[in-house]
Amino acid sequence: MCGIFGYLNFLVERDRRFVLDTLIKGLSRLEYRGYDSAGLAVDGDTEDQTFIFKQVGKVAALKKLVDTQEIDFEKSYISHCGMAHTRWATHGQPSQLNSHPHRSDNHNEFTLVHNGIITNYKEIKTLLEKKGFSFETETDTECVAKLTKYLYDSQKNSDITFTDLVKMVVKELEGSFAFIFKSTHFPNEIVATRRGSPLLIGVKTAKKLKVDFVDVEFGNAPDAINIPDKDPTGFMDPTEGGRPQMNRSLSRAFMSEDGMPQPIEFFLASDASAIVEHTKRVLYLEDDDIAHIADGELHIHRLRRDDGNSPATRSIQTLEIELAEIMKGSFDHFMQKEIYEQPESVVNTMRGRVNFETHKVTLGGLRGYLSIIRRARRIVFIACGTSFHSCLATRAIFEELTEIPSQVDLASDFLDRRTPIFRDDVCVFVSQSGETADTIMAMRYCLERGAVCVGITNTVGSSISRETHCGVHINAGPEIGVASTKAYTSQYIALVMMAIQLSEDRLSTTKRREEIIDGLYRLPGHVKEVLAQDANLQKLAEETLSKEKSLLLMGRGYQNATCLEGALKIKEISYMHSEGILAGELKHGPLALIDENMPVILIMTKDSLYPKVQSALQQVTARKGQPIIICNTGDDNLIRDYKTIQVPQTADCLQGLINIIPLQLLSYYLAVLGNIDVDFPRNLAKSVTVE
Ligand code: UD1
Ligand code: M6R
Repeated sequence: MCGIFGYLNFLVERDRRFVLDTLIKGLSRLEYRGYDSAGLAVDGDTEDQTFIFKQVGKVAALKKLVDTQEIDFEKSYISHCGMAHTRWATHGQPSQLNSHPHRSDNHNEFTLVHNGIITNYKEIKTLLEKKGFSFETETDTECVAKLTKYLYDSQKNSDITFTDLVKMVVKELEGSFAFIFKSTHFPNEIVATRRGSPLLIGVKTAKKLKVDFVDVEFGNAPDAINIPDKDPTGFMDPTEGGRPQMNRSLSRAFMSEDGMPQPIEFFLASDASAIVEHTKRVLYLEDDDIAHIADGELHIHRLRRDDGNSPATRSIQTLEIELAEIMKGSFDHFMQKEIYEQPESVVNTMRGRVNFETHKVTLGGLRGYLSIIRRARRIVFIACGTSFHSCLATRAIFEELTEIPSQVDLASDFLDRRTPIFRDDVCVFVSQSGETADTIMAMRYCLERGAVCVGITNTVGSSISRETHCGVHINAGPEIGVASTKAYTSQYIALVMMAIQLSEDRLSTTKRREEIIDGLYRLPGHVKEVLAQDANLQKLAEETLSKEKSLLLMGRGYQNATCLEGALKIKEISYMHSEGILAGELKHGPLALIDENMPVILIMTKDSLYPKVQSALQQVTARKGQPIIICNTGDDNLIRDYKTIQVPQTADCLQGLINIIPLQLLSYYLAVLGNIDVDFPRNLAKSVTVE
């Protein structure tokens, strides 16, 4: 929900202006994760000083604040570490005080930025208040900064390392988090850690790294610190467990040939989009990793030393995204750019996976699991928001092709019901970000119960991508706009491909599979045809819909999901009330809403349910409703009698991929006409990493 960014230079001379600009640029790349306030911390003029600047509003407001400071922007540093944060408020209103970084005291001895929620913060706060601490914010995060100081002061005479101090802090915390810590007691050092919230570290050097991994230090050297295991009130007596000592080991990746330290820069961020312009070499932290950066070296420690389940190294991977992919280019908004990318993004989802000549689908990510999935007792699809709609949109074709009973659940409801899950279930988690808290919790619930867990994600290295047994990356490219558009069409295609591959040994469905694969081949062209109607859709939004308060979307069968997704897009970014209604349900209640004033969009593209939707149309027009109809090009009767949006016809199970495009464009124009900041709609954030 929030975005965190850190920048550390070692033996690379940078002035304060450069550091501040780097932090602010990092934040602006992460702004889609939270945009109600922002802040940053950098070194002050002396070693025991840290400057903190915070501002309500978007990153641009923080930049303005920073630019007007009377500080020496030319002051140069050979080594320096800074951190920054963009917030989506959970605990405490968006305000300057509640913004991050948070600090331990008036001297800013410890400063930190946090993404996530500390669920036991009240207990910690009460204990610290008893110890004489007072709090200046309403946030859960501030208690972590104060707890760090409390533990540090209790250990003052013991030469405690920054890493060990943070270990002690983290052992007291419950909830989800990614943190960056900075301290005047440990100049030019950063400690970062995560549990449940994403965090990665980019590395930039002039020379190639010696190896492309970092050893994990499990702290089992004889002189390693011995921190007692978690005890809810452990920090009441932190000296228990012996005197902490240094546990130094060399990290092979950063050793230079001649043993001399080499110039290096580190970039820490909640996601890759803030790092890629600086370096493509990144390392993803695992839960309970404690990363310590000092003296040009990155060390990864584990929270507990007997943690045998964690791999012994963290690989330094090469990012595949390009800077251009996270820039708006000539478009006004990311959402608009992403809608327009769909002719390409749908191809990227299928690239190397669909052979249009032999009509064969091969998903490398499911290799090794196909026979287990085919034997499943049922398939349970679990997701939130738009990702949930992509599951709804493809459930019918899954059932038809695989004949495996399929169930689609919203992640939060799935968890609330404590849905029974068994070892012979296959659970499919669909998530653009791969970091949605509800979906992750549902995934862990299913993993615990022994089900095979499959991920469908857009983000390589995300929690869902890493923790599922197998899965498919949808390869749609980074999606920045809060409203999900290209990820929806790519998830939809990934699920259709999965259904096709699972049924490849069923001869009776061969023709059907071929028909669908032919439809997939024509899809990019079809999407382009709809995008070409941009001007008409803009006009429709402007002249017919923008003054309305409400909009109903109706359809049935495959188009039910299109209606729900279209309505979500409209309400999410234009703030107009909009509802997707299954046309078969009209007479069971919603028909009461229909009169000559109620705006309705009816989806009537040709499939086997067309006659039934015709009857819904009659029910609406009989109540003087004047629906706008999404129909196939050439459906002359409808085109003559109604206001229509015409789309090319394709296989029934793919028609939703085409029908959603005009609704994405309509929602976009409604938002633009309403003067809404399309990519940053109120109260929302791109990646919902809290429950
Ligand atoms: C992979 C490579 C791709 C390369 C291709 C060549 C990656 C990320 N992909 O693509 O660059 O061009 O081989 O053969 O390196 N996974 C999960 N959960 C998920 C998503 C994926 O466990 O939610 C796993 C898959 O099971 C697989 C791996 O991640 O083991 C990569 O998945 P995916 O990118 O879909 O595989 P390929 O299409 O084969
Ligand atoms: O990253 P995820 O796909 O897991 O996100 C799920 C939802 O939060 C997301 O689809 C949300 O509904 C979108 N903002 C809709 O446009």
